[in-house]
Amino acid sequence: MGCGGHPLPGYINMDLQSFPGVDLVTDLSRPHLPQGATEVFSNAFYEHLFLPDRIPHLRAVYKSLAYGGIINYMGIPWFPGIVDAYVNRKPGTMGGGSTFDLYHVYRYTHGAPDEAGEYMPQLHKGLFDLSTFEVIFDTIKPDHATVYTYVYPDEPVNVSVTCGVFICKGDLPMTPMSRPPVHTYALEYLEKWDDKYIELSTVRFQ
Ligand SMILES: C[S@@+](CC[C@H](N)C(=O)[O-])C[C@H]1O[C@@H](n2cnc3c(N)ncnc32)[C@H](O)[C@@H]1O
Repeated sequence: MGCGGHPLPGYINMDLQSFPGVDLVTDLSRPHLPQGATEVFSNAFYEHLFLPDRIPHLRAVYKSLAYGGIINYMGIPWFPGIVDAYVNRKPGTMGGGSTFDLYHVYRYTHGAPDEAGEYMPQLHKGLFDLSTFEVIFDTIKPDHATVYTYVYPDEPVNVSVTCGVFICKGDLPMTPMSRPPVHTYALEYLEKWDDKYIELSTVRFQ
């Protein structure tokens, strides 16, 4: 979903804009999807939807899942982490160096749309904290859902300004009681994105 200029091999890559490698150019605000999806993935996409579209979008995607299917949306700016990084003058991210200044805040809260080719698709339309996701989960009522924060590869380990949401339909495999099964399942799943989109050791479930 929202692959932009970084389509992923082995997936059906969709985006509003026609970048090379996009399989389906479509507006994903309220998608009509075929049934039977086993995995729906996005990175740095969900925050680009308008607020009234967030729940209809995720409801449609959840409905399209096969039994046992998962949704993993990551690269979503985490507002509590952004505030913490700014107020506490933590190190900058995105190779920017220096401190996490107001420009950094703007990159996460707004997406720096004036620096991209198309303003509206690039604009971040809203902010996210745990209660944002709890409202979404309470409405959609997925079988299992969790929110995690993390650090992007090669960024300062004490600056956690990004989050993801992991949702599953159906029963989960049995796991040791020490950790909720959905956390174990999410960590196993996230291994494949380690060093690409996530520094796995920094994952914190919220
Ligand atoms: C920051 S880019 C992320 C691209 C890619 N996933 C990555 O990780 O580099 C956000 C993408 O979301 C797409 N997008 C924004 N709104 C959309 C919508 N309503 N439907 C489909 N794609 C959308 C934009 O066109 C853009 O390519």
